Amino acid sequence: MKVLLIGSGGREHALAWKLAQSPELTKLYAAPGNPGIAEHATLVPFNTEDNDAVVSFCKDNAIDFVVVGPEAPLVAGVADRLRAEGFAVFGPSAAAAQLEGSKGFTKDICARYDIPTGAYQRFNNAPKAKAYIREQGAPIVVKADGLAAGKGVTVAMTVDEALAAVDDCFEGAFGAAGAEVVVEAYLDGEEASFFCLSDGKHALALATAQDHKRVGEGDTGPNTGGMGAYSPAPVMTPEMVERTMKEIIEPTMRGMAESGYPFSGVFFAGLMITKKGPELIEYNVRFGDPECQVLMMRLKSDLLPILYATATGTLDKVTAEWSDDPALTVVMASKGYPGSYDKNTPIKSIPGAGEGAKVFHAGTALKDGALVATGGRVLNVTASGKTVGEAQARAYALLDKVEWDNGFCRRDIGWQAIKRERA
Ligand code: AMP
Ligand code: GLY
Repeated sequence: MKVLLIGSGGREHALAWKLAQSPELTKLYAAPGNPGIAEHATLVPFNTEDNDAVVSFCKDNAIDFVVVGPEAPLVAGVADRLRAEGFAVFGPSAAAAQLEGSKGFTKDICARYDIPTGAYQRFNNAPKAKAYIREQGAPIVVKADGLAAGKGVTVAMTVDEALAAVDDCFEGAFGAAGAEVVVEAYLDGEEASFFCLSDGKHALALATAQDHKRVGEGDTGPNTGGMGAYSPAPVMTPEMVERTMKEIIEPTMRGMAESGYPFSGVFFAGLMITKKGPELIEYNVRFGDPECQVLMMRLKSDLLPILYATATGTLDKVTAEWSDDPALTVVMASKGYPGSYDKNTPIKSIPGAGEGAKVFHAGTALKDGALVATGGRVLNVTASGKTVGEAQARAYALLDKVEWDNGFCRRDIGWQAIKRERA
């Protein structure tokens, strides 16, 4: 099978690494890819935001299957265009991608199909949103409706903070994403991420993960795209997984189909495990980054037929086997991230990795033949172990061999799970 992978992050490096192990793969292309992905794929440098360019590349190269990594091309309708041209695609239609693209859309689906989530209201102007916040009191959560690169959410501990967040949204802090605001009840509990494939009719549960969103140790400081993750998430017991499937995933899949937007792709459900059980915080319609890296490290099955079955409506015919060994990934970022940082700093050396360990590239590039850091999040040092503690020790041992002066990382990825293991 000739496959085109769209994307250029650590998530796509992990997908490329796993796809490249498939006996069914004859050729892997990646657009635009990165120097790590180039170990497994031929890089093709066309603009992946240009749907016409994607379609003509697939026609010219007789591509059998397209795997879309990030959300932006999905929201821009790349999957619709490719399907209309007869290509098999892993990733939802633009209409179904609203599950990530519009928080208000998702909340309405939850309300209609009785999916547990925080009580909410949608607003298109500040005075009404503020009146609702004053009536509800704090803590309360204010969200820009649209895609805001993970920055549009304020968990407000005071009413004043929530009112200021409403002003930020309507004054354009998140651009068009803030033209509508969702105000929702604060959920108290432990967070976890759950990944599940859907072909529109069938669901296949994958695995669970927990990430570390804050830049600082002890989960402090500003939010980031994720500074590390591990899988599985201990809070997601088999009972919680079963309840999540029954109470959240299955009604969403049914609701999307009944609403005219059958969902084909991966549900990345952000959950809060509250006293009542699993409640939905949000959906993403693509794999998490860096959660995907730990999932791929644990997946024993061939990824390619599983993704292909998702795209072709035959998910009931495949299974996914997972290693019981936990996996953990540590993000190395450019000093200054998530604020401003220097670009094109040299990465002198990356250690080769052995069984159950791998350094995935995210924001790297080759400049005059030398590897440089170009992004905020740059490398994902990933390892598995018999326990989260062992996976963590192996990941940091590998990370300490990376020679990159401008890099930093958190030293405590996995701390909650390790505390549990030692209790
Ligand atoms: P989101 O971008 O929707 O994932 O939100 C970012 C983070 O805000 C989540 O990972 C949670 O930590 C927090 N959050 C979002 N919604 C709520 C909520 N209703 N209650 C408590 N925390 C929330
Ligand atoms: N790590 C969180 C995300 O991919 O959205």
